[in-house]
Amino acid sequence: MWSCTQTQWSWPGWWCAPEHAISASTWRVMRIGILTGGGDAPGLNAAVRAVVRSATAAGNSVVGVRNGWSGLLGDGDVVEVGRTEVAGILQLGGTILGTSSRHNPLKSDGGCEQVVGNLRRHAIDTLVAIGGDGTLGIAAHFVERGEAVIGLPKTIDNDLSVTEYCIGFDSAVAVVAEALDRLHTTAASHHRVMVLEVMGRDTGWLGVVGGMAGGADMIVIPEVPVGPDEVVAHLEARRAAGSDFSIVVVSEGAQLPGLLPSAAEFGITDELGRAQISKRGVGERLAVLIESRTGWETRATVLGHTQRGGSPSAYDRVWATRLGAAAYTMAVEGDLGMVAVVRKGAIARAPIADVARQQSVSLDLYRLAQLFF
Ligand code: F6P
Repeated sequence: MWSCTQTQWSWPGWWCAPEHAISASTWRVMRIGILTGGGDAPGLNAAVRAVVRSATAAGNSVVGVRNGWSGLLGDGDVVEVGRTEVAGILQLGGTILGTSSRHNPLKSDGGCEQVVGNLRRHAIDTLVAIGGDGTLGIAAHFVERGEAVIGLPKTIDNDLSVTEYCIGFDSAVAVVAEALDRLHTTAASHHRVMVLEVMGRDTGWLGVVGGMAGGADMIVIPEVPVGPDEVVAHLEARRAAGSDFSIVVVSEGAQLPGLLPSAAEFGITDELGRAQISKRGVGERLAVLIESRTGWETRATVLGHTQRGGSPSAYDRVWATRLGAAAYTMAVEGDLGMVAVVRKGAIARAPIADVARQQSVSLDLYRLAQLFF
């Protein structure tokens, strides 16, 4: 069960956000570990900075685990992170701690024992793990084993459960929207079809929200199976109605049966055995199909990792900061095994295992986007 721990938050009161209020009775000296796992995302550094600044202001210390869970294997790769180390990183993309893209200690021989051993060796009282379903799924395992772990939600895919917000999503949406703005002018000038491939292995949050923000004429996402025939028919209908260009957004994990192998069938996998879905080339394949079936010039753009890179938006900076401060408060209060999330516009707390489950895009939102196709 998740619980809301504060009242509705609003902009004018942000400087007195209650997630940072700790009563004198709950304060004690502690050493917090922090790691960032999975794909990087804009706003990670803001969250790291918030944990460090909150902790050091209260006389506690923080160590950074380098490169995700792999920094807790072997002898551990752990560094002291203080006020100096987090200076100037609020606006910096990526993660100063590094991330090992897809390393899973649960799948390596003796990995679990090494992680636990390193938490003890480096005297880490509480570990703050910032990540998506993979990282938080691993964190949930260590919680089950009785380890002191707190989570923060991060993924540009925005597909974690319970929380309304994941660090990095807002910045990634802005990249998609800007790309669509740029594609619109060139598409209109050349009377072309433009296909924009966006990230989203299993879910279409980035496709739907980014596509809505950029006025896409069709959005194809993993959750809604659309065949190539339907895409072509829709574009032909638009032409017949007088639109002489079209913009199609397609999630990298879109199914498009018959056009390319499904994620399950696709042979190229990452270290976790998951399909490296971007290598299916859905955008290019769809563009070739559209051009060959309609005879209209069609171009594909693959946004790829530009969606993950660069400076975080102001929104991501503020919410990542608030979540980081909340994680620190939870650590001090001993509210372990929980993730600091956003619910109803406020910071709340929910069990890690609940948040780590993948959440599909809202179909209501998709249907709304369809109105503008
Ligand atoms: O998990 C976030 C994500 O951005 C997915 O949308 C994408 O499929 C994946 O990461 C790609 O990550 P990488 O290229 O680092 O393996």
